[in-house]
Amino acid sequence: MARHLVTSALPYINGIKHLGNMVGSMLPADVYSRYLRQQGHEVLYICATDEHGTPAELAAKAAGLTVADFCARAHEAQRAVYDGFALSFDHFGRSSSQQNVEITQHFARKLHENGFIEERAIRQVFSPADDRFLPDRYIEGTCPHCGYDRARGDQCENCTRVLDPTDLIDPRSAISNSTELEVRETKHLFLLQSKLQHEVEAWIDEVADEWPQLASSIARKWLTEGLHDRAITRDLDWGVPVPADTWPDLAAEGKVFYVWFDAPIEYIGATKEWADAAGDGQVRDWKSWWYGPDGADNVRYTEFMAKDNVPFHTVMFPATELGVREPWKKVDYVKAFNWLTYYGGKFSTSQQRGIFTDQALELLPADYWRYFLIANAPESDDSAFTWEHFAATVNKDLADTLGNFVNRVLSFSRKRFGDHVPAGKERGAAEAKLGAEIAGLLADYEGHLEALQFRKAAQSLRALWSAGNSYLEEKAPWLEMKTDQEAAATTLRTAMNLIHLYAVISEPFIPVSAAAMRTAFSLEADTATWVTAEQARALDAVPGGTAFTVPPVLFAKVSEEDLESYLTRFGGES
Ligand code: 2FM
Ligand code: ZN
Repeated sequence: MARHLVTSALPYINGIKHLGNMVGSMLPADVYSRYLRQQGHEVLYICATDEHGTPAELAAKAAGLTVADFCARAHEAQRAVYDGFALSFDHFGRSSSQQNVEITQHFARKLHENGFIEERAIRQVFSPADDRFLPDRYIEGTCPHCGYDRARGDQCENCTRVLDPTDLIDPRSAISNSTELEVRETKHLFLLQSKLQHEVEAWIDEVADEWPQLASSIARKWLTEGLHDRAITRDLDWGVPVPADTWPDLAAEGKVFYVWFDAPIEYIGATKEWADAAGDGQVRDWKSWWYGPDGADNVRYTEFMAKDNVPFHTVMFPATELGVREPWKKVDYVKAFNWLTYYGGKFSTSQQRGIFTDQALELLPADYWRYFLIANAPESDDSAFTWEHFAATVNKDLADTLGNFVNRVLSFSRKRFGDHVPAGKERGAAEAKLGAEIAGLLADYEGHLEALQFRKAAQSLRALWSAGNSYLEEKAPWLEMKTDQEAAATTLRTAMNLIHLYAVISEPFIPVSAAAMRTAFSLEADTATWVTAEQARALDAVPGGTAFTVPPVLFAKVSEEDLESYLTRFGGES
């Protein structure tokens, strides 16, 4: 048994995420965590909302709420969706928590003590009407390239060019529309990442060879370009305050840390939130997951994220952890994903293109989405969501191959032998052959899950389901019934053992349906504990005489009419 710490990139607070976010971080992290738990490992799966920064302030303003209120509501809205997707977080925290404030401030103090933080004066746009410095996105004006009159200080949404606020023609404050803007000098904290370049390189050389190429190549590219010192504070009301004991002047000016400084620290903050939330009589030791040569050395830490997050997790956050000069746990394995596209184009929140996670759950249960998304995860390349592919996958794999097998076997057996698993005879040659095939496929499946190869794991799982169908077709118990009832009973008992096995091993992908399949059998002390390939070979976990019920149809097919209505509502080919 090992200790596994698992985190998925923290979803930003400003809105409900689309399916592309889900498949690139939380869902695979959940599948992996569930698999490890079934294997008997000690697992801590941590996630949280990432709540600071300008977009949160802007979204709150648009909603007419204070940022604190907006974030509290938006956090609950996201949590409800993740519950709906059956994500098994051990804790789903908030980067605005007091725990994160304290740990972030501690990190900053230590970085300062160790000579990695410096105060520097920079020139920034100040708006007297708003009485504040304006972050780049809070400055609007006319784009010098295309003439779009609502370009933002960081980028023109119309022509996508990256801008500096001083490029804008007729700049104005996005808060008050005031055009009386001044450039003033102000002090900020800079993290001297350049001083940590060599240490980060040495660490990457030690750990990254094992990572998927997507993650290691992005990390190495960033290091080749060189780590630059960067400002880690901002002039915002909402964020982790710069600690007054160390920087009284900056604290008095109300400076807060930049969102990307405190967000990864929230992986630790949320672990402390988890410990602090322990009920009576429970002791949860958050530090043993994160800190100390004796504590955290026995922890394997796996992070899940989409490729745009890789630089922050593989270079910048490790640089911070190294600069703190305390033994904080660094990531062991980075599982990075490419993009899920919608018909080859971008999922876009602003253009309402694609499917949001809350909409998905209104249409169909979580397991349909979980299975499709993981089976088509953008691992080695981008992958496209299309409704046609989704419908075909659900119908073939879930409804025909798995669901139909389960319902057909259980209904037929109940009709012919009543509501207990028929005893039948000893296993014969067909069962021995099936057992060997299942053992081999299960070993492949496990190997792919261990290697975090989700698409391949889905293929193996599908092959396991298919093997049951082939066995059933070959034995044809409905024909056996006519000549040898005991033989038919043996076939059905074996098929019911397959159903129980499928319930256990499909749990990481489709936990809700898996539970329905497993609990169809009244076994004493039944659990979802993983089975070894050798145990699976025997196909005898459910003995003759076990009572069972027939669950409702597990997966409904997506009909032509359904497909058309989805296409009308969400749009298809672009
Ligand atoms: O890209 C994003 O959506 C960020 N909110 C991810 C943060 S991950 C972690 F570092 F906090
Ligand atoms: Zn433009």
